[in-house]
Amino acid sequence: MSTRRIGVAGLGPMGAAIARMLVARGHDVLVWNRTAEVAHRLHGATPAASVAALVAAADAVVVSLPGYRITRELLDTEDCAAALDGTLLIQLSTGRSDQARQQQAWAQSHGATFLAGSVLGYPRSLGTEAMTVLYGGARAAFDEWAGTLADLAPGQVFVGEDPGAPAALSGPLWHFYYGAYGAFLEAAAYADASGIGIRDFASAAEGMSRILSDGMQDSTTRIAEDRLAGDQATIAAVHRDLVGGQSALDRLGIDGLSRAAFVTCLSRAIEQGDGDRDPAAAFHHVRREPPARS
Ligand SMILES: NC(=O)c1ccc[n+]([C@@H]2O[C@H](COP(=O)([O-])OP(=O)(O)OC[C@H]3O[C@@H](n4cnc5c(N)ncnc54)[C@H](OP(=O)(O)O)[C@@H]3O)[C@@H](O)[C@H]2O)c1
Repeated sequence: MSTRRIGVAGLGPMGAAIARMLVARGHDVLVWNRTAEVAHRLHGATPAASVAALVAAADAVVVSLPGYRITRELLDTEDCAAALDGTLLIQLSTGRSDQARQQQAWAQSHGATFLAGSVLGYPRSLGTEAMTVLYGGARAAFDEWAGTLADLAPGQVFVGEDPGAPAALSGPLWHFYYGAYGAFLEAAAYADASGIGIRDFASAAEGMSRILSDGMQDSTTRIAEDRLAGDQATIAAVHRDLVGGQSALDRLGIDGLSRAAFVTCLSRAIEQGDGDRDPAAAFHHVRREPPARS
């Protein structure tokens, strides 16, 4: 149990779940929310009278607001700026890499230390293996607070001292997630049309997700070694014939051979650390230059 105080600014679904988890794990938690009643209702946490009071009283402040612009508007006041000196600001609001870098520069100019985090998971996943948080920024501060932050996500990852790194990686990762999730829903609908109930389908799909993991590892090796083989294009074509109609990837404009290349562009976007680029643009680049068949 920590004797330091951790603040949470913003008690929407994610911020409130973060605060509740920190309280449940025995931390000394201060909370602030624009609508004050929400902070007063958060059992076990101490409500702060203002965001400046929260920053002044906490050793580290987790920010969980709709984005960087709102965070800046909130913190960029004389009172807050004065209170920031010596505080660790942990920005868990979703944003772009350039916004994270700008916020770090701004925080440092007020004597604060900065960590940017990308939350990969739902509020209900906090504290479980289904939650990952990617962190970037001040390495020493991450090391110092890693034990506390691990209560939110045991699988947390420090991706680098560039505070823009988490957003760069999480963009393609969310793209992957929503594509896969859309494919699951679509496949469940096909199964339903064949009289297979959603529970039976989901149970069988668990096995397929392990095959997906194996396929991803195989593709990763091939892509890394620049030998994307023809059979992957064949798999894409077979899938196309099987489903007949318009699939989720078709709707995204991803067809034929390009399906096999889809993973390539995402992997390359990750490698290049260019998560702010629209992954679809990376995809079209690959489509113009299909990988050579071995
Ligand atoms: N929810 C998720 O599943 C999830 C998953 C991953 C990442 N995230 C990220 O986590 C962050 C928080 O998300 P969320 O789901 O909790 O909901 P949210 O709608 O992004 O944030 C709601 C919170 O922001 C406050 N707020 C809104 N506008 C404000 C303003 N102008 N000034 C001060 N406070 C303001 C609200 O206060 P009031 O109570 O006064 O309205 C409330 O506390 C976001 O950046 C989101 O992208 C969320």
